[in-house]
Amino acid sequence: EAEISKNLPLKGKKVLVTAGPTFEAIDPVRFIGNHSSGKMGCAIADVALRMGAEVVLVLGPSSVMVDEEKINVLRVTTAAQMYKAVHNNFRDCDVAIFSAAVADYRPINISEEKIKKKAGEGMTIVLERTQDILASVGEIKTSQFLVGFALETQNELENAKKKLEKKNLDLIVLNSLRDKGAGFKADTNKVTFVEKDNKVTPFDVKSKQEVAKDILEHISKKIHA
Ligand code: CTP
Ligand code: CA
Repeated sequence: EAEISKNLPLKGKKVLVTAGPTFEAIDPVRFIGNHSSGKMGCAIADVALRMGAEVVLVLGPSSVMVDEEKINVLRVTTAAQMYKAVHNNFRDCDVAIFSAAVADYRPINISEEKIKKKAGEGMTIVLERTQDILASVGEIKTSQFLVGFALETQNELENAKKKLEKKNLDLIVLNSLRDKGAGFKADTNKVTFVEKDNKVTPFDVKSKQEVAKDILEHISKKIHA
């Protein structure tokens, strides 16, 4: 860690990071969410800071602690709020890393009152698509180095490559849920990098801090090349 802070490879660079889940309200007491802890993205923000970057962290509902004195933390709840915070900070950033687990759907209507249960079989909540935040910045990107994450349970590499292309990314970090010590709540992750030129690099199971370091060292090499 002392090594990282000595030569500050990201000094003068603005790094935008998204992290955590999003919550989409159903009524005043209920929501649709997911199991993302925000640990991976907060680790990325932390390591980027220690590599000398100016860091903006757009963070969904997460209880992970970050150094809010030095990191510009923008707290959001919904995908729509995350979209806005990202677009307010994208144009002048040098690197953008999208690790948030954004809801793909939200309820069409948010009930103003708590929904009461009714007699009978079940109930239906009608959902609509949220905006794909990463794809939307992929469309407007100029010189930014753009990184996405992919969480897949089947055809991992193939699906990750499709996302890389479709969203106009430079790098996608494939997150394997199948391996031991990988996934949402864990402190470790098993990732594979897939690059724009189709280069595939698998990594061992590592702490999320170390995965963050691998990602940022890779980016640092690429943007200085
Ligand atoms: N992402 C985003 N906004 C969304 C959905 C996803 O910014 N509304 C970003 C995630 O942060 C991640 C990448 O897109 O970096 C891939 O997310 P993932 O959920 O794996 O892929 P999707 O494109 O949503 O496809 P699907 O869930 O159907 O696999
Ligand atoms: Ca998704």
